[in-house]
Amino acid sequence: MTEPLHTFPDWMSFYDQMPIDKMPWYHAELDSDLAEALQAAKLSGKKGLDLGTGPGTQAIELARQGYQMTGSDLSASAVRQAAELADKACVSAEWVADDVLASQLQGPFDFIFDRGCFHVLPPNTRTQYVDTVADLLDPEGTLFLKCFSRLQPSEVGPYRFSPEQVRDIFSSRFELVSIKETVYQGQLAELPKALFSVLKRK
Ligand SMILES: C[S@@+](CC[C@H](N)C(=O)[O-])C[C@H]1O[C@@H](n2cnc3c(N)ncnc32)[C@H](O)[C@@H]1O
Repeated sequence: MTEPLHTFPDWMSFYDQMPIDKMPWYHAELDSDLAEALQAAKLSGKKGLDLGTGPGTQAIELARQGYQMTGSDLSASAVRQAAELADKACVSAEWVADDVLASQLQGPFDFIFDRGCFHVLPPNTRTQYVDTVADLLDPEGTLFLKCFSRLQPSEVGPYRFSPEQVRDIFSSRFELVSIKETVYQGQLAELPKALFSVLKRK
């Protein structure tokens, strides 16, 4: 039997079914590609959104570094557990259950970090995603995007992208500042191959 392509958990219940620190994407430290990019970036301000925050570790680490963070996720359970993790770490951030494809969030944000949300969305929603994210950003805002690379073998799980595809998908609203081949840090023994992009709102 052939394996199903690009199937995803039911995000609404998944965060009640597994401890967050066992999830493949759980990474307690700040994503090293984002850390490096933030050093180089000239951000318009400190207000950030961790979109599809999941366990919330990235928003928590950014808040610890002095950014004014909101973490949003489709899953209310993810958001609740992220808030609990932040409380334990004595870190202050805002946590919101929100579907990026029908977003009620209020911008503007100076930057948005998407580590693994975009690449699980259906292809026919990408234009809507791009418009929503652009509208949530300040006119000078930056999107930091981590998604699976087309160099990651097989087609099971998240969608894969080439640098050209990222440029094309975002070109209506974003200028691609940089893109690099990297890995998606987390709990897997072999870290998936990923792309890390810096996109400036046009
Ligand atoms: C691969 S996980 C990454 C979680 C987190 N960014 C991290 O790196 O630890 C993808 C996340 O996207 C969330 N997600 C999926 N579809 C979404 C949507 N339409 N709106 C907001 N979040 C969504 C899922 O609930 C899940 O937490």
